[in-house]
Amino acid sequence: MQTVNIRVFDTPHDAGIYVAALAEQVIQSRPDPVLGLATGSTPIPFYDALVGLHRCGLDLSSVTTINLDEYIGLPPTHEQSYAYFMHRHLFSRTNIRPENIHIPNGMADDLVAECARYDDVIRQHPIHLQILGIGVNGHIGFNEPDDLLLSKTHVVELRPETVRSNARFFERIEDVPRRAITMGVQAILQADQIVLMAFGPEKADIIARSVLGEVRTDVPASILQLHKRVTVVLDRASAQGLFDESGRLREK
Ligand code: PGA
Repeated sequence: MQTVNIRVFDTPHDAGIYVAALAEQVIQSRPDPVLGLATGSTPIPFYDALVGLHRCGLDLSSVTTINLDEYIGLPPTHEQSYAYFMHRHLFSRTNIRPENIHIPNGMADDLVAECARYDDVIRQHPIHLQILGIGVNGHIGFNEPDDLLLSKTHVVELRPETVRSNARFFERIEDVPRRAITMGVQAILQADQIVLMAFGPEKADIIARSVLGEVRTDVPASILQLHKRVTVVLDRASAQGLFDESGRLREK
């Protein structure tokens, strides 16, 4: 974020329209657009807006999608799997081709081989626009705060705060998978352009630490400060830690 580009919207709905317009630019500007996609509540307004553009004539048949992560042990038919989420919110509502969709397989017998396969997919399809949400602990994808951030796709043990936060989607906290496959930070940082989205007051503190704080492996999103083309897309609540009383961006 050497040139920090921050956009603050009144509502997540408005923010979603802005991000969909960015995606449309990428999609229209090349024959083989590759979108890196995220799950969670945050990108839903973006997907709704992209579906809206598709209904108004935006052709997505040439788009390749590469998702950030998937729970280990949930089949794509499970309502809380990220494959299911993506079909529900985007793929089933557009003309993105099934063969152009890439999501880690959390049911693979050999998870190490699956991670290597996924890195091959990413190598073959360099990402033009990467969409990211952020966890309350600063994770991007499922790159959790740690002493070290891993560059390649890997299996990760979810942190207790991530399990607690994601429990809202499951009947019982015991049902939340404890492990996931996630793209590593190298693939994220190699994207041409990155959009980090966050909404709500519970994200204000981590957004301030990620944008204005030191680059630290225990605040994984802070690594985005090393990228040359990041746009941080917020609502007023998630942006509240970034600006002083006069509305100026606080000093780092
Ligand atoms: P959320 O999750 O969009 O549901 O808040 C974001 C994340 O954990 O990356």
